[in-house]
Amino acid sequence: MSKQRILVVDDERSMREFLGILLEREGYEVEKAGTAELGLAAFERNPHDLVLTDLNLPGMSGLDLLRLLKTRAASSARDVPVIMITAYGTAATAVEAMKRGAFDYVMKPFNNDELKLLARRALDMRALGEENLRLKTELRDRYHYHTLVGSSPAMQEVYALIERVKDTRINSLIEGESGTGKELVARAIHFSGVRRDHPFVAVNCGAIPENLIESELFGYKKGAFTGAQRDKIGFFAAADKGTIFLDEIGEMPLLTQVKVLRAIQEKKVNPVGSTEERSVDVRILAATNKELEAEVRLGAFREDLFYRLNVITIRVPPLRERRADIIELARHFIARHAKEYGKPIEGLTPDTARLLQHHDFPGNVRELENLIERSVALAPGPRITADLLPDKFRPRDDTSLEDNQISFPSEGIELDERIRSYEYTWLTRALDEAGGNKTKAADLLGMSFRSFRYRLQKHGISTD
Ligand SMILES: Nc1ncnc2c1ncn2[C@@H]1O[C@H](COP(=O)(O)OP(=O)(O)OP(=O)(O)O)[C@@H](O)[C@H]1O
Ligand SMILES: [Mg+2]
Repeated sequence: MSKQRILVVDDERSMREFLGILLEREGYEVEKAGTAELGLAAFERNPHDLVLTDLNLPGMSGLDLLRLLKTRAASSARDVPVIMITAYGTAATAVEAMKRGAFDYVMKPFNNDELKLLARRALDMRALGEENLRLKTELRDRYHYHTLVGSSPAMQEVYALIERVKDTRINSLIEGESGTGKELVARAIHFSGVRRDHPFVAVNCGAIPENLIESELFGYKKGAFTGAQRDKIGFFAAADKGTIFLDEIGEMPLLTQVKVLRAIQEKKVNPVGSTEERSVDVRILAATNKELEAEVRLGAFREDLFYRLNVITIRVPPLRERRADIIELARHFIARHAKEYGKPIEGLTPDTARLLQHHDFPGNVRELENLIERSVALAPGPRITADLLPDKFRPRDDTSLEDNQISFPSEGIELDERIRSYEYTWLTRALDEAGGNKTKAADLLGMSFRSFRYRLQKHGISTD
């Protein structure tokens, strides 16, 4: 661990020197300044962990310095403790300083041990504060939608919808293939919106046996059936004022659908075996990987409930429709799992990146994450090389198109997709060939720099 850094501000040179020696002997790194102005400049350059300042200074006073440091902390969420050094007769100002957020003050002449102890305490306090802040941020980030990685236009649309519904009671239906991130979107809505301090209750409608689903959702009264030995609160009531996430809503039995519809319309639930209704205020987010509208047409899902749930539809696109996100997500997962496995993995080789970009990911983001986790666990070196990927990633030779011997599959092909992938291959090859130099790469492809750059953007190829 690097040394803790202390800034000492005093206009009296011998005092500065003395404090320097005293604190350096304690193992701290000390920087000294003769005026508040110089001290502030030093702090701006490289913030310290603790500031010790004299109250009476020529020019800007110690109190001013304190105020500036505290305002700065308020805008950067990083507070620095300040200990004031006061001379006899300035006790009133010292009290003022405490009111303005100083950690403590010492009166000259001071006892050396007392000062050292005070510095230690201030630094410990700060470390504790930082730790709390880190934990809080971690907890918040875990659910904050910024952890939804991906800046493709398709995801921007998803973010825009999250913004639109997060602070409202609007029920939304989140549609998307398996592994696209539907649950993450639901959490993002809840934890970034006004309901975030109330519960988020996730219910997998497909996993609860049909005969239990009603009592799970709405609770039951003691004695409602054999085994009901006490009242049980249901998921709806548990999510009061918060959000209930009905995952795999398409699996919900028709009879239960009727009751959920009632709960939505009347904002009340009726526990099994009870005659009393209970008011609930819940926002419903439902998710499905089926096309729910088709289920409605088939009569497997109630139309009225469908419209109640589906006030806003958020469609989370499959990964193959937002290839620009693949590398960004891969990096995100590498960072996460490298930390978990304690391996210093930096990233992907260009070959691996290319192979990932071309893969269709039927299992979407989940598949990519599993793949990355596995590669991180296996990687012997600092980068994920192509040979760590499963066999299905072995390259088909894209360049063989040139010999005109294309066999045409009977089911036909997606020409646009083929062209896109062909273009991608040549763009990244040219970049590799040119050692990352875009002007040179554009030359190699016989196109202008601008048009090359445009195409890089189109494919989401990042060159940093
Ligand atoms: N945009 C994203 N950014 C970061 N991680 C993501 C993103 N999308 C999905 N993930 C991760 O991928 C995994 C699958 O996501 P999630 O469980 O939300 O998918 P799902 O659509 O609910 O899948 P299923 O239909 O199979 O239940 C999770 O580990 C999730 O954290
Ligand atoms: Mg899910």
